[in-house]
Amino acid sequence: MAILPILSYPDPRLRTIAEPVKTVDAEIKQLIEDMIETMYDAKGIGLAATQVDRHIQLIVMDLSENNDNPRVFINPKVTPLVEDKKPYEEGCLSVPDVYDSVERPTRVKIEALDGEGKPFVEEAEGLLAVCIQHEMDHLNGVLFVDYLSRLKQTRARDKVKKYLKVRERQMQQNKA
Ligand code: NI
Repeated sequence: MAILPILSYPDPRLRTIAEPVKTVDAEIKQLIEDMIETMYDAKGIGLAATQVDRHIQLIVMDLSENNDNPRVFINPKVTPLVEDKKPYEEGCLSVPDVYDSVERPTRVKIEALDGEGKPFVEEAEGLLAVCIQHEMDHLNGVLFVDYLSRLKQTRARDKVKKYLKVRERQMQQNKA
C-alpha cells in the first residue's frame, strides 16, 4: 500500500473529466487500496481518483465512525430522486482548511460497480447522498468551491495557498 499525493485547488488537473474503468483488474484493485489508505491518512471521508491525478471513474468513501467500512464506487451514475435541496457544510481534501455550505438534492439513486466489479443499485440520503454527489463532481472536474461566490473562491485559493505553505515548512522542519 502507498499514500498518494493529493492535488490541491486550483491545480488545473482537478478539472480533468474522468474516463470509465474498463475492467476491475489487479492494477485497479491496487489503486483502490492505495486510495483508501490515502483517504484515511488525510482524515477524509471520501476521495475521487481525480484527486490523486488518476482520471478514471473511481471513488472511495468511508462514512463509518471507526473507519472500518470502506466503500468503492466504480463508473458511478447518480440520479437525483427529489427536487428538494438542502444545504450541507462541505469540505474537501483538495481544498484543505476551507468549509462552506452547498445545496444538493437530498435523495439520489446510485448505480455503480463495487470494488470487485459487481454492479449494484442503491438509494441514498443524508451524508451518503451529499458525499457521493461531491465525489461525482470531482470525476466531472467540478469542485465544491465552484458553487460559491467569486469572493469566497478567491478567499479559498488564498487559504489553501497559506495552508500548503505552512505544511511545507512543517515537513522541512521534520526533516531537519
Ligand atoms: Ni472533494
